[in-house]
Amino acid sequence: MAVNLKGKDLLTLHDWSSEEIWQVLKTAEHLKRLRHMGQRFEPLSGKTLAMIFAKPSTRTRVSFEAGVTQLGGHALYLSTNDLQLGRGETIADTGRVLSRFVDAIMIRTFKHSHVEELAEAATVPVINGLTDDYHPCQVLADLLTIYEKKGRIEGLKLAYVGDGNNMTHSLMLGGAKLGMSVVCASPAGLSPNPAIVEKARAAAAATGAEISVVNSAAAAVAGADIVYTDVFVSMGQDADRERKLQALAGYRITTALMAQAKPDALFMHCLPAHRGEEVEAAVIDGPQSVVFDEAENRLHAQNGLMVLVM
Ligand code: CP
Ligand code: NVA
Repeated sequence: MAVNLKGKDLLTLHDWSSEEIWQVLKTAEHLKRLRHMGQRFEPLSGKTLAMIFAKPSTRTRVSFEAGVTQLGGHALYLSTNDLQLGRGETIADTGRVLSRFVDAIMIRTFKHSHVEELAEAATVPVINGLTDDYHPCQVLADLLTIYEKKGRIEGLKLAYVGDGNNMTHSLMLGGAKLGMSVVCASPAGLSPNPAIVEKARAAAAATGAEISVVNSAAAAVAGADIVYTDVFVSMGQDADRERKLQALAGYRITTALMAQAKPDALFMHCLPAHRGEEVEAAVIDGPQSVVFDEAENRLHAQNGLMVLVM
C-alpha cells in the first residue's frame, strides 16, 4: 500500500519510516527507467522549487535543478549572500514568504536547527540539502545505489571509515531504518554525535541492524559489503583542518584496507573526494568504486522524492 507523502518535509531520515523510504527508492527506480528510455514525464509542470544555499555545492545544486527541469518544473538557485536572509531577515519570515511563491524549498546550510525553523514556518515541504549534522538526500541516493548493485539492503554491512560527520549520521539512520548494519571507524574525538548514534540504534532495534562505533578501521571493514568514506574536513570546518588531518591519517581507504572487506565489496564516497587524503586514487578509480553511479543517483532519488512530496 502506497503511503501519501504529499507535503512531507525531509529534514532527517529519522522522521521517515522504512515504508516511506522504500517508496522514494521505488519511485526513483521507476523514474530512472523512464529517463533512460527517453520518456518524458512532467508531473512538476507549473511547480517551482526554491533552493537556498549557504554552502557551496556541485551535485546537490545541479541534480536538483536538472531534476526539476526534467520533471517539467522550475528551480531557483538562491544564495544566502543574495537573499535578505544575509541582511538579517529571519529564517521564519523567509520560509513564510517563499511558501507564498513556490511549491517546495530545498536548503543547504550550517546549523540543523535553522532547517527545523524554516520547516516550522514554511507551509510547503522543506528538503534538507545538507546541514552540519545530516545529509539525507545523499543517503537516499546511496541506498538506491546499494539496492541496484547488491539487489538488497537488509542484512548488508556498511563500514564507514573517517570523520564521524553529517554523512555518518545519515548513513546510520538510513541503514537502521532499512536493516543494514553500519559501523563507523573513527579516531577518538572525531566519532559521530552519540545522541544521533543512539537514535539510529533505537531505530535499528526494529530491523535487526547493528549500529556501532569503533576506533579500528581494519576491524570495521572486516566482512563489509560496502566501504564508505567522506572528506576529512567538511565544509565550515577549515579552522580544525590540521587537527583533523593528523588524527585521521591512519583512516585513509587504501587497496590494502579494501582487501580486508568482502571480495565483492563496493567502495562509496558522497564526493567531492580528495585523492591521497581520505582515499587512494587506486581505490576510488578502481573496479570496486561506484562513486559516479552514486552521484548519478542523486538525480533519480531526489526526483522520486520531489514527485512524492511536491
Ligand atoms: N555529495 C554532495 O552533496 O555534493 P555537493 O557538495 O557537490 O552538493
Ligand atoms: N561531510 C561533507 C559532505 C559533502 C557533501 C561536508 O559536509 O562538507
